[in-house]
Amino acid sequence: MSERPLLIVVLAAGKGTRMKSALPKVLHQVGGRSLLGHVLAAATAAGGSRVAVVVGPGMDNVGAEARAQVPDVETFVQVSQLGTGDAALAARAAIESHDGDALVVLGDSPFLTSETLIRTRHSLQGDAGIAVVGFEAADPTGYGRLLVDGNGSVTAVREEREASAEERKVRLCNSGVIGFRGERMLEILSAITDQNAKGEYYLTDAIEIGRAKGVRSVYVTGSAEETLGINDRAQLAAAERIFQDRARAKLMAEGVTMIAPETVFVSHDTRIGQDVVIEPFVVIGPGVTIGDNVQIRAFTHLTGTDAKSKKGVAIGARAEIGPYARLRPGASIGEDVHVGNFVEVKNASLENGAKANHLAYIGDGRVGEKANIGAGTIFCNYDGFNKHHTDVGAGAFVGSNTSLVAPVKIGDGAYVGSGSVITRDVAPDALAVERSKQEEKPGWAAKYRQLMARRKKSRN
Ligand code: UD1
Ligand code: MG
Repeated sequence: MSERPLLIVVLAAGKGTRMKSALPKVLHQVGGRSLLGHVLAAATAAGGSRVAVVVGPGMDNVGAEARAQVPDVETFVQVSQLGTGDAALAARAAIESHDGDALVVLGDSPFLTSETLIRTRHSLQGDAGIAVVGFEAADPTGYGRLLVDGNGSVTAVREEREASAEERKVRLCNSGVIGFRGERMLEILSAITDQNAKGEYYLTDAIEIGRAKGVRSVYVTGSAEETLGINDRAQLAAAERIFQDRARAKLMAEGVTMIAPETVFVSHDTRIGQDVVIEPFVVIGPGVTIGDNVQIRAFTHLTGTDAKSKKGVAIGARAEIGPYARLRPGASIGEDVHVGNFVEVKNASLENGAKANHLAYIGDGRVGEKANIGAGTIFCNYDGFNKHHTDVGAGAFVGSNTSLVAPVKIGDGAYVGSGSVITRDVAPDALAVERSKQEEKPGWAAKYRQLMARRKKSRN
């Protein structure tokens, strides 16, 4: 097996005009991760010792996304989009300085697997200097066709526009992944011209050019799904469906019960323990970990990490979440915790056995073990400028409709009377009540009713 160093060049300079988006195509997401993120995950898992990404001018956000996942990624700018052959050459400096194998992959193919990349690389043996990944397309329209001779060598990849009627009948299509034995790569890429129907530099011309130079091309096959390239929003939605179906099947195989799996949406990194039950209509964003025996009730939204926060959501064993709960970035839920309907938790921990069963906002705080947060409790964490912390001690009891104005601390075992607006710390085991004294006027209501009834009668 070849163990030469591997360079992977990801082409991601295309704007993706059919997406009709201000966001570059490869930053659109499937399963809570960008298309580029999926491709880079496969590239690194395939053992790419160097990863290069080719971006378009001004696509700093694409470069940043690449660096977030592969810190030592090399980025190159393709000045104008003259075609995939030109895009690969934008990474010339990486190719020139690389001594080993190289794979060129397309940045818009989220299902590309490391396994296929590894097979492609391993097919670069003996006299095989180029390897193409092909797939059998049910409808090959629009794809480049692999022309294969009797020896299993690829003689050309013919783009749709240049293909003859006979060639168009070929169903073995080019996925877009092309591997090169490093030595001749630059020489071959440099010989690509734009003399074709589209006036573009086709990377796929490398096969015929290589052949003329005595370099044999071979192919390996991948699945049609794996090579799906996203060009518009309908294809993006189709990719999401495929992603979700696979992810749900995998989670169920690992011991998760989903009552209506088609209504549960998960992310690329969702981790769920055994004997977890997920009721219908649950959305799970990136960065969520769920322990064993947890119940996620219907219509719960586990937001997970967002663009601002790197924090995820963690849920401990035997917790019960929902229905209609919302856990946002930094929600850390201990074991046996209950988070009930219309409770929102953000950047806060609920320690083992704590309960917030109904209608509460718990933001930027800690709720100690077995503490009870009554209905309508609000952690007032924001003063319009800064966020402040609220700390509720173990075993504390916060009565319904309480506002805890942060920064504030409720001691272990303390009680807070319903309806209080708490602005000062409460000592352990104390009772804090902040509300005006109740007044009572005996017989008032009866007198009031009599008076009002008389007035109404005299008017009629
Ligand atoms: C390409 C292949 C075709 C294959 C198909 C599979 C060529 C000439 N054709 O066609 O054989 O069947 O993919 O999906 O390679 N890109 C750049 N710079 C450019 C042009 C493209 O970076 O100047 C990037 C795009 O961002 C995209 C990728 O290359 O991620 C593919 O480009 P696209 O225009 O979608 O190629 P296809 O016409 O789909
Ligand atoms: Mg494409």
